Amino acid sequence: MTVFRSASVQKASTLAEHYYTSPEIFEQETQRIFHNHWICVGRGEQIVDVGDYFLAQIGAENLIILRDAQGCARAFFNVCRHRRTRLCQSPHGQLGEMICCTHHGWRYSLEGQLRSARRESVPAEESALFACALYEWEGFLWVNLAPNPVPFTQTVSPLLSQFAPWRLASLRVVEQITDEVQANWKLIFQAYCDRYLYTPTANRSPSLSAGAFLGASQAIDRDVLPLPGLRGEQGNRAYYYSLFPTMLLSLYPSHAIALRLYPQAADRTRIVCEWLSDRSAMSAVAMETWKRNHRQAWFGCEQMQRRHTARSMHANGLTAFDREYLRVLGASAFGLPQNYAWQQGH
Ligand code: FES
Repeated sequence: MTVFRSASVQKASTLAEHYYTSPEIFEQETQRIFHNHWICVGRGEQIVDVGDYFLAQIGAENLIILRDAQGCARAFFNVCRHRRTRLCQSPHGQLGEMICCTHHGWRYSLEGQLRSARRESVPAEESALFACALYEWEGFLWVNLAPNPVPFTQTVSPLLSQFAPWRLASLRVVEQITDEVQANWKLIFQAYCDRYLYTPTANRSPSLSAGAFLGASQAIDRDVLPLPGLRGEQGNRAYYYSLFPTMLLSLYPSHAIALRLYPQAADRTRIVCEWLSDRSAMSAVAMETWKRNHRQAWFGCEQMQRRHTARSMHANGLTAFDREYLRVLGASAFGLPQNYAWQQGH
């Protein structure tokens, strides 16, 4: 049973422990956040040709992300309209011209329309695949499971042209690491923010410090040829962004690193980390350093998760991420007034 202690947001010092451990809260997050926000699920380059597809899991929902006959990316719930069987099993592949259900042979076009149902006559409005909103931006594919989502361009309006000089859509994934981390997704998000966004230093300055998007940049040594679209100080600065709820993006003069979080349970998160570049490969030394740094960071998150479970966490203050998270989740989700959602520090 989750217990909430009364405190005002002004006095609150951190999220309460159960926000990192409670299956009930994780279920609320799934419904209110992951099923209701734009979530990055991959790159357009994963579905280059007509009929290419991959599967994406968001909370309890499995989606088919595909390239249709007109070359547009689309997303459908991975269920047949006949008996709700899963249509695609392999994590990625090539569909050809149709999506075929192996159970009773219904066939759908790549636009989701039923094309043949064997001997059955099915009304058109009851036969199309259930579609989900998808938007392709800067080479990334974003989906939103809400029935009537806020348009993507409206949601990300503060960032819409922010990344243009890096020409992210033209970059390619040259390395990818997938890690299964035994820690709550918020600890990972906060670890990134703590490291890159919250702490002002002599050479680091924040650009976005509240709301769904946080950003900061810092001066770094120029040691490589910058990407062709960068101008002026962009050639010797690193830019860090968090895009609520599950994406973290680091932009460097020669490349970009994108992290996508896939929360699996209150204490488990899958992290897909991609290195994007206009070159065909990265150096072995850079690769090893990158992997080592990331795994150290995730190990730290797992240690923090254990401390949360052991009820001995240390409070560092309610952060911009915490405030945005609580605003979106809302204590009313638990039938409690808003100011019952926070806990005083220890
Ligand atoms: S369940 Fe798909 S055709 Fe019957």
